[in-house]
Amino acid sequence: MNSPIAIIGAGGWGTALAITMARHGKDVRLWAYEPYLVETMLATRENPLYLPSIPVPESVRISNSMSEVLGNAGIVIIAVPSHVYRSVFTQMLPLVNDEMLFISAAKGIENDTLMRMSEVLTDVAKPHFTLRIAAISGPTFAPEVARGEPTALVVASPDAQLRLLLQKELSGPRFRLYTNSDLTGVEIAAAIKNIIAIAAGVVDGLGLGSNATAALVTRGLAEITRLVIACGGKRETLAGLAGLGDLVLTSYGSLSRNRRVGFALGQGRNIDEVLAGMRMVAEGVRTSKSAVALARKLDIELPIVQKMYSVLHEGGKPQDAIHDLMERKLKEE
Ligand SMILES: NC(=O)c1ccc[n+]([C@@H]2O[C@H](COP(=O)([O-])OP(=O)(O)OC[C@H]3O[C@@H](n4cnc5c(N)ncnc54)[C@H](O)[C@@H]3O)[C@@H](O)[C@H]2O)c1
Repeated sequence: MNSPIAIIGAGGWGTALAITMARHGKDVRLWAYEPYLVETMLATRENPLYLPSIPVPESVRISNSMSEVLGNAGIVIIAVPSHVYRSVFTQMLPLVNDEMLFISAAKGIENDTLMRMSEVLTDVAKPHFTLRIAAISGPTFAPEVARGEPTALVVASPDAQLRLLLQKELSGPRFRLYTNSDLTGVEIAAAIKNIIAIAAGVVDGLGLGSNATAALVTRGLAEITRLVIACGGKRETLAGLAGLGDLVLTSYGSLSRNRRVGFALGQGRNIDEVLAGMRMVAEGVRTSKSAVALARKLDIELPIVQKMYSVLHEGGKPQDAIHDLMERKLKEE
């Protein structure tokens, strides 16, 4: 495809994708929400707020105008955090059309509707046209992707032609995309792993050992699997990049914001104070609300998710949460 790639959202992830696509020789346009960020990025060719010290190629066109960024785009990547997805796509709607191919790059579940991000976009577009949409996910810390370090991820859609086309369009020598037909499984896994990563951070912050973290991550994978299957996704997805791959990265990687939130809580810090000190989003905090509501709706047990919800939103104590998880009724694996 020769038409431009529009990237909506100049946070860490949107900027990393813009840098990567420019490196692949694509015509890239990047929309930033903050007008002052556009001015700074144009002047310095860096994103000091969300991805400092990594050059943004001159070829990336940066703008605060959605019409400038979306005009005649072929592929539209939406990389804003999940809590602003609906409002941002509603603004985009008059400027997009059914010939564009959409990619959801966010990892979350909408709080009130319990929709996955591709469902939110489809819902907004529904009265006007049918979207062709895929999601990208996998173990991808934005700074590493932006620096061109080798990364593998998945592009997921039930539409075989779409996922193959996007795989070809987005892949490059150090950015390797695998296709996956299980959009539901990929999106649910992407959202829930952030909550498990918060729990892994809590375990570390409390000074518990590696056994505890490994147990928690493994049981976390069991919870994610249960929810994916209940939502209609596939078990096999959890063994792949968007499942185990992303869960391991986020639970163990030092760049993980969700893990960092959990670590601070485990060390006895207060959640409001922790979040107040962060400009960047830790999606697991909000997603825990949706996950608990989804589990209730589908009548399934997600004990780790439930405990993290209680620590994050109900004043639960991290040490009590871990103690309660260990004291649950004994079970078969
Ligand atoms: N950072 C990563 O390594 C990474 C990797 C893969 C996926 N993701 C996912 O990508 C999504 C974006 O995350 P990020 O890390 O780029 O975010 P970020 O924390 O780096 O940046 C926040 C972004 O939100 C935008 N924003 C804030 N308020 C807004 C509003 N009211 N309207 C529109 N935009 C607004 C900011 O402009 C900025 O683009 C998240 O769902 C995240 O889970 C992130």
